[in-house]
Amino acid sequence: MITLLRILSVLLFLFSLKIILVAVFFYKEIKSAQQKDPAAKSFLEIILLYQGLHALVGYRIAHFLYKLHLFFLARLISQVSRFTTGIEIHPGAKIGKGFFIDHGMGVVIGETSIIGDNVLLYQGVTLGGTGLEKGKRHPTIGNNVVIGTGAKILGNITVGDNSYIGANAVVIKDVPPNSTVVGVPGRITKQDGKKIDVSLDHIHTLDPIMQNIEELQKRIEKLEDKGKS
Ligand SMILES: CC(C)(COP(=O)(O)OP(=O)(O)OC[C@H]1O[C@@H](n2cnc3c(N)ncnc32)[C@H](O)[C@@H]1OP(=O)(O)O)[C@@H](O)C(=O)NCCC(=O)NCCS
Repeated sequence: MITLLRILSVLLFLFSLKIILVAVFFYKEIKSAQQKDPAAKSFLEIILLYQGLHALVGYRIAHFLYKLHLFFLARLISQVSRFTTGIEIHPGAKIGKGFFIDHGMGVVIGETSIIGDNVLLYQGVTLGGTGLEKGKRHPTIGNNVVIGTGAKILGNITVGDNSYIGANAVVIKDVPPNSTVVGVPGRITKQDGKKIDVSLDHIHTLDPIMQNIEELQKRIEKLEDKGKS
């Protein structure tokens, strides 16, 4: 009985130590989660229940081993973390401070991705390559970027600081700072706080067919409205 109590108290001590270490070393990330997720109620809830934070803890350990060229061990930790969180972060990726993955399931971050400070990703985001090329083949994400659920950012492109990538967008070209990008392929709808009229924009025109379809849709809606009145 006494032995069992001793084992339990050691486990409790280790568990408390783990919580304290995570709270100290991941303070900025926990704070960021609290700011970015209105549903987050307390520090303890984030430490114990947020998969995004757990994946980041696993990634930091794996990245440390990766830098020591212990590639197999690094990948092993990354895969265990993927199994328990549903989030796959390659140990070679570089991630800044205040990073937060909300909900998390299905996020994939490739080996040569670079992520700035205060970036928020939602579930299902991919920072991936476009083919079998070697070298830097994944995106570079600036500071304070938000990437909506299901968005795919592909190739060695740069997403500028303070940009928003809409849910389910597929981005395959550079995004300037302070932009909002939506759709497939991604097109800029807002820049520096100003709405961009896609039909007049000759710089960011990415998909003329999509624009024609949208134009036709608007005309049909207008005709339908006229028909009703
Ligand atoms: C893109 C986003 C950031 C909104 O930016 P915004 O500047 O407020 O944009 P608006 O709502 O004014 O929309 C601008 C245009 O883009 C369209 N749009 C907005 N989000 C879109 C999306 N994800 N895909 C396609 N079009 C989209 C709007 O319909 C609007 O079109 P219109 O000008 O023809 O009317 C937001 O819609 C988004 O997708 N956020 C991601 C949130 C998310 O993933 N949440 C997950 C929670 S679990």
